Amino acid sequence: MSEAEELRRVAEGLRAMPKQIDSKYFYDQRGSELFDEITTLPEYYPTRTERALLERWAEPLVRRLRPASVLELGAGSARKTRVLLSALERVAPDATYIPLDVSAAFLGETARELRAEFPDLRVTPIAGDFTEGIELREPLPRPALFALFGSTIGNFGHERAASILRHAVEHMEEDDHLLLGADLRPGPSKSKAELEAAYNDSHGVTARFNLNVLTVLNERFGTDFHVPAFEHVAFYDEAEDRIEMHLRATSSTSVTMPGAGSVTFAAGETVRTEISCKYDRATVEEIFACAGLTVDDWFDADGRYALALGRPAE
Ligand code: AVJ
Repeated sequence: MSEAEELRRVAEGLRAMPKQIDSKYFYDQRGSELFDEITTLPEYYPTRTERALLERWAEPLVRRLRPASVLELGAGSARKTRVLLSALERVAPDATYIPLDVSAAFLGETARELRAEFPDLRVTPIAGDFTEGIELREPLPRPALFALFGSTIGNFGHERAASILRHAVEHMEEDDHLLLGADLRPGPSKSKAELEAAYNDSHGVTARFNLNVLTVLNERFGTDFHVPAFEHVAFYDEAEDRIEMHLRATSSTSVTMPGAGSVTFAAGETVRTEISCKYDRATVEEIFACAGLTVDDWFDADGRYALALGRPAE
């Protein structure tokens, strides 16, 4: 997509009802650093809960599936992946690890580090946006294990989530599997307050992460968001089963977009910057079914967070 076309879409989002900004714009250098910091906060339980699940289940899983390749969608710094890769190293040391990420620079760095850490592993990164489709450069060693961690899928509504998973399913054969990390809904072991606190941390890191998206847009598209006019808002929507993050204008303010006009915010008006859907097993089963997958196994941490294992439906 050209920059002009992207700006046209950003403008369209800001004129929509409700106003919205695509959460992909969070992740410039600064935003990625802030997100890394979020994952270490005491309130942000998903990362550490998922890592604990992988520490418990990665090895038995890898022993059972014996993957010859692991293809990770949205690998990023591949930090949680290390748990999976060290299990893989013990079981199938010469397997191939294929990290997929939008950031080619990040991927190169990660690949170098992983090759040093896991000398027998083949690391063959692919730069690309898996939400748009997956283009492989060579046939996958089989069986293949696809992985999508971090509840990244939560950023998308269920239909879009299914279509993203379908991109993986298109490359899957009978003995391949897909492992999905999914944050779960409030329940007996996780209150709504605890869930909301994960997105309203006491150090204000999530607030900085959220507000940074305006700076990203200003730098990238030459818009003139007055960042101090906005404040961070995050809440759990029980009807939609999702966290919503917004930026709220504390006073009336407007933004001009080069070649795309301007948009005004009334005092108190918000722009939605992210949804983070929360799941239960039945919902994951429905999404998997729409994507052509069946749930093969389900590992959860006390109903707080889950790893769902899928395989192609017959
Ligand atoms: C990276 C999309 C999984 O939704 O929890 C963290 C992003 N936003 N805190 C999430 C996020 C605010 C995160 N995901």
